[in-house]
Amino acid sequence: MKEPMSITHGKIILIGEHSVVYNKPAIAVPFLATDLRVYIEKNKENELECSFYYGNLDQASEDLAGLRYIIESFLYEYKINEKIKITIRSTIPNERGMGSSAASSVGVIRALYNFFQIKHNDDDIKKWAEISEKIIHGDPSGIDLSVVLNEKSVYFQKNKDIEIFPINMDGYLVIADTGKKGRTKEAVNGIKKMLENNDPNIIKSIDEMGELAEKAKNSILNNDIILLGKIFNSFQSKLRILDVTDEKLEELIKISNENGALGSKLTGGGKGGCMISLARDFNSAKKIVDSLKNKATNVWLFNLKSEIV
Ligand code: MEV
Repeated sequence: MKEPMSITHGKIILIGEHSVVYNKPAIAVPFLATDLRVYIEKNKENELECSFYYGNLDQASEDLAGLRYIIESFLYEYKINEKIKITIRSTIPNERGMGSSAASSVGVIRALYNFFQIKHNDDDIKKWAEISEKIIHGDPSGIDLSVVLNEKSVYFQKNKDIEIFPINMDGYLVIADTGKKGRTKEAVNGIKKMLENNDPNIIKSIDEMGELAEKAKNSILNNDIILLGKIFNSFQSKLRILDVTDEKLEELIKISNENGALGSKLTGGGKGGCMISLARDFNSAKKIVDSLKNKATNVWLFNLKSEIV
């Protein structure tokens, strides 16, 4: 296959998932260990190929409804009659809260602009990707798109300018995949329902999650990974109250914390998906990785100094 028309990366939410939907701050970093490549070639029909579908674009499965809509709308808007085949090759785990849907929306639109040599900027890409994200997720906060588009760590608050927030800490981040699909939409809707019932515990938890995210920002600025670990654990206890964790996530979190992690939490939408842990140094991180290896389907290790900026 020829050169990809675009390469995008996923995201890792360090802190602030779910409370970010309610205007609280969140911190997220690009997931540079994996990527999503989009290839386009001329074809007899409009076709789409990805890990779980290969066929005509107009018959793509429900999971691809967002992508299909923006591809068809893009071709219509730019009056393109030429038929194409779009191939998506991705190493970002699918539906694990790691931003694979945002990466595919951004990647496909960027690839279309590049393939047809249409002048564009990031705002144009964002406009299309937002449509697809809304079809998939309902009413997302926008944090996934902001990281995928900028490929930088961000301190994010809905309806505010994005703050690029470089992370330069001594320590390591371990990411482990439960192997179970996350259920972001279900988790987001569950919280919404509890709030509609004016559950005081939920309102209080979301406020406290906002405060924890602010404290996390300061601990990162002060290079205080021990405090950040404690904040991770406190944030996870709030996510439990919000009922967005599950048994497998809790199992990995327990193993990780028992093997020297400074703190652990789920990342992304929850109810499946991935968890993250903090480690003070490489040896400690290695011990955590080893302890998770037989229990998780995949484990990644990041240096918080350089890789995640
Ligand atoms: C999903 O990556 C993050 C959530 O906070 C949802 C959102 O921000 O739209 C769970």
